[in-house]
Amino acid sequence: MADKTQIPKIIVLDFGSQTTQLIARRIREFKVFSEIHAYNELSIADIQLINPKGIILSGSPYSVHDTDAPTVSKKIFDIGIPILGICYGMQLTAHLLGGRVEKSECREYGPADLIIDEPDELFYGLDPAPVPHRVWMSHGDRVEVLPEGFSTLAYSESSPVSAMKHDKKPVFGVQFHPEVVHTTIGNEVLQNFVFRICKCEPSWNMHSFVETAAKEIKAKVGDGKVICALSGGVDSTVTALLINKAIGDQLVSIFVNNGLLRKNEPETVMAFLEKLGLNVRYVDAEARFIKRLYKVEDPEEKRKIIGNEFIAVFEEEAKKLGDVKFLAQGTLYPDVIESVSFKGPSATIKSHHNVGGLPEVMKLDLIEPLRELFKDEVRELAKELGMPDDLIYRHPFPGPGLAIRILGEVTPERLNILRDADAIVIEEMKKSGWYKRVWQSFAVLLPIRTVGVMGDERTYEYVAAIRSVDSVDAMTADWTRLPADLLARISNRIINEVRGVNRVCYDISSKPPATIEWE
Ligand code: XMP
Repeated sequence: MADKTQIPKIIVLDFGSQTTQLIARRIREFKVFSEIHAYNELSIADIQLINPKGIILSGSPYSVHDTDAPTVSKKIFDIGIPILGICYGMQLTAHLLGGRVEKSECREYGPADLIIDEPDELFYGLDPAPVPHRVWMSHGDRVEVLPEGFSTLAYSESSPVSAMKHDKKPVFGVQFHPEVVHTTIGNEVLQNFVFRICKCEPSWNMHSFVETAAKEIKAKVGDGKVICALSGGVDSTVTALLINKAIGDQLVSIFVNNGLLRKNEPETVMAFLEKLGLNVRYVDAEARFIKRLYKVEDPEEKRKIIGNEFIAVFEEEAKKLGDVKFLAQGTLYPDVIESVSFKGPSATIKSHHNVGGLPEVMKLDLIEPLRELFKDEVRELAKELGMPDDLIYRHPFPGPGLAIRILGEVTPERLNILRDADAIVIEEMKKSGWYKRVWQSFAVLLPIRTVGVMGDERTYEYVAAIRSVDSVDAMTADWTRLPADLLARISNRIINEVRGVNRVCYDISSKPPATIEWE
């Protein structure tokens, strides 16, 4: 696993802690590159080849005494690269080097007061004893006896060794979690490790990420051909832009118009992608998707049909291109941690909703240049790559598209009604400044008709529901308290301008127990 770029970096070896990703993120916030590897992914020789400026051993749900506890070769402590063990990482260090780790009499979960005896490099600039510092602990074991050559740097009520350091080697350990915000001195401790101990320079940014990623992609792909399924969403678009920068026309992006997109979306997205110089194939698959959805009412069946049809279309296009070796995907870090068992790199990775199953079916190697990044980092990257704010800050849109916002059967007539109603919702949200303040807002078309009166005439038409939610991660959500006059404007416009709708409702359900989408 040759690292051809030699970008100065801190590597984090992941033993399965919930907060591992935060460690890398904090370090990147200091403008130093950091990447995560499963604990057993790299040999000592690999690490020496990568030659990181420092190594962090993460926390873990395991105890070092568990029979299947994850571990590393203890040679890692002899290669001269600074190491910081966090929680389990510290216990593992102690255990491997001959110290004693035991169950705490009193487990520590949550806040604890840390007293620093030794404000040396790791705690540089922080008040020593007797000043307490609020830190966040989460452990059942603790270091009882230090390994030879180590000394204690700090303690808490339940952990006599809350931080330790080797007297000669650059090996450190902390029992608390410096990466979480509840540890008030967390940034200072990590900064001391990164800058004072590992001697990193704060020079990494999205511009250097682009440069490095482009080099890495080029090295991996050689002169092979790459395909990418482009939805126009920020993740897949950024992926394509990045790869395009690295290998130009060796990348072919495929944009499938499944007929379930928002109003004017295919045109807007295609125009933008072409303007950026991407080699995009536009596939008009509207008719075949609609045909497959004929008379289908069940939401899960709709999803399955759309997913399978997408794979079929994509495979056909790939065949036309000939010898394709790689598939690019916009997998982000949260997708990876949601689905990777930390036991190793062979673990399965969640396929994107809208390209579900493609890698397995097509036997292609994956390229996922965003798999280390969080959503806000991807947005920053999108700016760096020249994406306009309009596209960067678009609300999320589900892979199965409008099909899961038309309850019951999906027909061309219903699709047109929903597109028009949805366009009004988005337009009014933007005009009023609310669009940027909410997680998602859209219209839903209900399969029931109600009676109304327009002019002197009785009408009998569909009901549209408006959904707008606040959320940080879509796991939970609450309905947005939109101003009544904005809702009134949306409702008036839909009823007046969209033929086929004579009643509008506002969805006031939270998630849970409801979901964001209606199907
Ligand atoms: P729910 O409805 O589960 O939605 O509360 C949570 C978030 O996920 C999006 N969503 C989907 N995205 N394929 C996707 O690509 C899907 O099948 C799908 N279902 C829901 C939804 O828009 C929201 O942001």
